[in-house]
Amino acid sequence: LPADIFADRRNSAGIDLSDPLVLEPLQERLAELENKHWVAEPTFKSGSEAEIAPINKPHDLTAEVGTRRDTLDFEVEEAITRAQAIQPGWDRLGGEKRAVLLEAAADLFEEHTDDFLSLCQREAGKTLMDAVLELREAVDFLRFYANEARRQFTRPIILPGPTGEENRLSLHGRGVFSCISPWNFPLAIFIGTPAAALAAGNTVVAKPAEQTPLIAALAVRLCHEAGIPEEAFQLLPGAGEVGEMITSDARIAGVAFTGSTQTAQAINRSLASRDGPIATLIAETGGQNAMIVDSTALPEQVTRDVVASAFQSAGQRCSALRVLYIQDDVYDEMLRMIRGGFEALTIGNPEHLATDVGPVIDPDAKSSLERHIARRKKGGRPVWRRRLHRGANAGCFVAPTIIEMDSILDLKRENFGPILHVVRYRAADLERVIEDINSTGFGLTMGLHSRNDETRAFVEARVKVGNFYVNRNQIGAVVESQPFGGEGLSGTGPKAGGPHYVQRFATERVVCVDT
Ligand code: NAD
Ligand code: ALA
Repeated sequence: LPADIFADRRNSAGIDLSDPLVLEPLQERLAELENKHWVAEPTFKSGSEAEIAPINKPHDLTAEVGTRRDTLDFEVEEAITRAQAIQPGWDRLGGEKRAVLLEAAADLFEEHTDDFLSLCQREAGKTLMDAVLELREAVDFLRFYANEARRQFTRPIILPGPTGEENRLSLHGRGVFSCISPWNFPLAIFIGTPAAALAAGNTVVAKPAEQTPLIAALAVRLCHEAGIPEEAFQLLPGAGEVGEMITSDARIAGVAFTGSTQTAQAINRSLASRDGPIATLIAETGGQNAMIVDSTALPEQVTRDVVASAFQSAGQRCSALRVLYIQDDVYDEMLRMIRGGFEALTIGNPEHLATDVGPVIDPDAKSSLERHIARRKKGGRPVWRRRLHRGANAGCFVAPTIIEMDSILDLKRENFGPILHVVRYRAADLERVIEDINSTGFGLTMGLHSRNDETRAFVEARVKVGNFYVNRNQIGAVVESQPFGGEGLSGTGPKAGGPHYVQRFATERVVCVDT
């Protein structure tokens, strides 16, 4: 690819929360939205017997933010019929016109900044900083994939015609894509995969996570206001069963899924057992992410980056640091400093500006994390926990926790929350440490803190992860600059926000005209 392919595009500037002239009016506007009630329902609803589920704040289970009206079986079928009928026209519209519509949606998202930030906080329990980053990433995905539509879907590639014939290769939508998303990026990931699918000329039926349909409903409504036809991008709220019903329909040409590895495997099995065309599966899944800190690392920088990687977003990022390996010569001092940073975290209501760590998403997540901590405590190794604030019982709070252990291999599954495991290693064992990390089968993110060039080259040559970060934190990949996605149990690729992503949603067609 030529180096300047992205030259004309810039990511969104975001919001400078350190500027009181920006922050104070924003907080006032968010206060006005404090009691707004939101509704998520299917784009086209025809049945009357659907379930209505309340959506409550993760940090206060007594506070209702809105309601989710689930999609009925026959509404799923009708949605796919509508999406299939309009898809050829959407594809023929061409990359330029689709790009303009996606960019208009990005502009509307920015105009609705207050609504989105409020929903990120109230529905998903995000801190204001995380909410700002979330909206920014969503807008960046829309504009980045719009640019990809323009770059790759407006004119064909002219191929050699050695005998005088004309050969053209063009990219087209595959058909109807099912986009299924998790709750931890209820806006950025919810809109990212549909934006790519739409850019490529597909139509989309999107199922948001059952915990966060309200923010998704607003996103879809704004896309329609921007001019994307309702049939081309439909919202199908509901639990996993709705996702299952969509992916088992033989008319679905592709699935773009983000969520747990287990669910991706279930979808893979379901697609394999269907009749009809072979569907594409793009799956971005979980991780068992490690960081290695050697004795040359800068302690203050390590402390900042470890605390952010493990505890920002209450550890509910697929990229988050789960297992920290510290070289034995510096282990005690490094751990002491990290514990200092950990003790300084403010835990509490994510709607309060001072909060660093908010709730986990729901009572199931809380009890699963608490069970893991209880099992590790029984193992007899040190476990440090923060105390929770008064009133924490009203919501799904898990006290941030640091657990000592012997190896990443002691963990059997991803623990999706504010828990950091710490392991001591000897310099002579570095290669084995990397082998252990690789042998988990996950391959999402990994971090390294080292000032030694040889160590950096040694580790880089051996890691098997999608995103490897050196001397920085390992979260918060930026669209276009750090395309994001894993390998092995962590996903199929291609990388979200990268130059090969939209192509995977497309089919290639060659036209050969003899003279
Ligand atoms: P999940 O797998 O439980 O659910 C994800 C989505 O799949 C939800 O919308 C859910 O309703 C739906 N679903 C559940 N069962 C289904 C089925 N049988 N068929 C079709 N759809 C089904 O995951 P989650 O708890 O919402 O999200 C957290 C997980 O997501 C973590 O494992 C995290 O690491 C991962 N994640 C990965 C990335 C990445 O880019 N690699 C990004 C964010 C989150
Ligand atoms: N893209 C998200 C991150 O890098 C998951 O944290």
